[in-house]
Amino acid sequence: MSNYHIKHLEEYFQVYRKSVRNPEGFWEEIAEEHFNWRKKWNKVLSWDFDKPEVKWFEGAKLNITENCLDRHIPTRGNKTAILFEPNNPNEEAQHITYNELHERVCRMANVLLSKGVKKGDRVCIYLPMIPELAVSLLACARIGAIHSVVFAGFSANALSTRINDSDCKMVICSDGSFRGNKTIDLKVIVDKGLEDCPGVETVLVVKRTNTEVTMKEGRDLWMHPLLDVAESNLEAELMDAEDPLFILYTSGSTGQPKGMVHTTAGYMVYTAYTFKNAFQYKEEDVYWCTADIGWITGHSYIVYGPLANGATTVMFEGVPSYPDYGRFWQIVEKHKINQFYTAPTAIRALAKEKLEFVEKYDLSSLKVIGSVGEPINEEAWHWYNNNVGRKKSPIIDTWWQTETGGIMITPIPYVTPTTPTYATLPFIGIQPALMDENGKEIEGNQVDGRLCIKFPWPSIARTIWGNHQRYKDTYFSAYKNMYFTGDGALRDAVGYYRITGRVDDVIIVSGHNLGTAPIEDSINEHPAVAESAIVGFPHDVKGNALYGYVILKEMGEDRNKENLKKEINQQITEQIGPIAKLDKIQFVPGLPKTRSGKIMRRILRKIASKDTSNLGDTSTLLNPEVVQDIMDNAL
Ligand code: WTA
Repeated sequence: MSNYHIKHLEEYFQVYRKSVRNPEGFWEEIAEEHFNWRKKWNKVLSWDFDKPEVKWFEGAKLNITENCLDRHIPTRGNKTAILFEPNNPNEEAQHITYNELHERVCRMANVLLSKGVKKGDRVCIYLPMIPELAVSLLACARIGAIHSVVFAGFSANALSTRINDSDCKMVICSDGSFRGNKTIDLKVIVDKGLEDCPGVETVLVVKRTNTEVTMKEGRDLWMHPLLDVAESNLEAELMDAEDPLFILYTSGSTGQPKGMVHTTAGYMVYTAYTFKNAFQYKEEDVYWCTADIGWITGHSYIVYGPLANGATTVMFEGVPSYPDYGRFWQIVEKHKINQFYTAPTAIRALAKEKLEFVEKYDLSSLKVIGSVGEPINEEAWHWYNNNVGRKKSPIIDTWWQTETGGIMITPIPYVTPTTPTYATLPFIGIQPALMDENGKEIEGNQVDGRLCIKFPWPSIARTIWGNHQRYKDTYFSAYKNMYFTGDGALRDAVGYYRITGRVDDVIIVSGHNLGTAPIEDSINEHPAVAESAIVGFPHDVKGNALYGYVILKEMGEDRNKENLKKEINQQITEQIGPIAKLDKIQFVPGLPKTRSGKIMRRILRKIASKDTSNLGDTSTLLNPEVVQDIMDNAL
């Protein structure tokens, strides 16, 4: 019998040891006993971090939707698979059973086929958090098309870059989306983005807001009439274990976003296994992750992980502040949520509001509360623990990444004792290492370094779409035979890990990864701007906010500075999205640079954080005099 469900600490250590001593044997047992395969693998694992290449369950044939849907039909057909809570609290929640979800996925899969989508084709999904979003992912997987979900808060420009990078032939979108008291015209954004996307043949439009839209003849079709006439059943496409399941874009420190490619079998096994254990999910539980499916957290822990376990997973369309700041807790009470998973930025935003908003609801159904996306600060941890967990539901601080596919370091609730701000112990099968700046592994405890992983796990991303070299350079070149995460971490006296944050130029704002380069590019395109540099600075709700140092061209000097700031933010909003807007913009005469021309972000970061007591050695700079000027005029 495999150790699918870990229930106490001794067992964790014992299973962990087993998973590290014999990873192949361990994962083979899990895969064999808990999933449906149409054909078993020839080899459990082959890997080479130098190439880099990782393959799990090679030779196996399966379809992930058979594991997420079909196999539950006999035992859980009438159980709620997706519980949809609309933006408007007065609109009725929808309970979509496994039977119904199966049918809806098959119908949509048939529509995709009828519009010429084939196995291996890429389909871009740009939808709000409505059931059709989850159905679209599964419909693609049903026929072997590769989905590429783009978060529906991204701009037209960001959307078209992503569509073109992976050459999507279809876009699934909606007329609009509801967010709090706002209605957003999504179709307008799609139309604008598609002006630069010659490869898109079909756009399927889901009706949600009843907003008037323009439908382009020969390209755009309403989704629902097609679903109504589609067949309600469809045999799933037979997929290889290593066939791509999806592409999901994430920001890097330089250049365009990276299309991380996840494949089928390993991703399924790992997301399902982590879901079961990290949330201690039991058959009757109602689980809610507040993330958007546009991010990896939604892919792995709203859709695939929960459904592979036959769970009830909540999808919430709205925002935590609408109609008031009690909405999350009202939903917890209403649906008797057992596991609740959110981000530190949401916790901090809610902690600023009156306690009444959380106190007035019955949260006694909660058993586990989770955090993901960025380090959770101590104050937020305690607020969450006291007011939401009410000191009885353990907090799981789960560290992982788009690239890792699933949770990597986390307490197992009721198993691992928690410590505020610590992600604690590696999950089963995960072998972390801390590295020093000279490329040596730092052994022992009470140390800190750069976080790497020594051995492949089943859901590691296999490549960057269209750019394997970049995959190698980004993750496998910093340290030999190691996957480099880009994060710093410390290991305390008992071996618990605490993630200290990014060590590269990625800045996490409200849980969203933002690369500095695309934002700087966007600012630099403004006709009055000569050059710019972006850094993060601490913000009590967002975790980090963006501080921009901007050098103006001569023509900019006479302009009204407040208007210029607005224009710069407008430009960023259009090209990337509102999440990348700058909180502060300082116009500067120059940027501190090394003699090789590199911007010294370290200094800019310190000034932005008002921490100028020790700027370090500035004498090697090309232009040390600008530092004083920047400091004198800092915001
Ligand atoms: C950060 C989100 C501290 C980290 C699943 C990582 C965290 C990046 C945590 C990945 C955590 C995520 N504690 N930091 N519990 N979880 N991070 O790709 O810097 O959106 O590298 O994946 O978020 O963000 P991504």
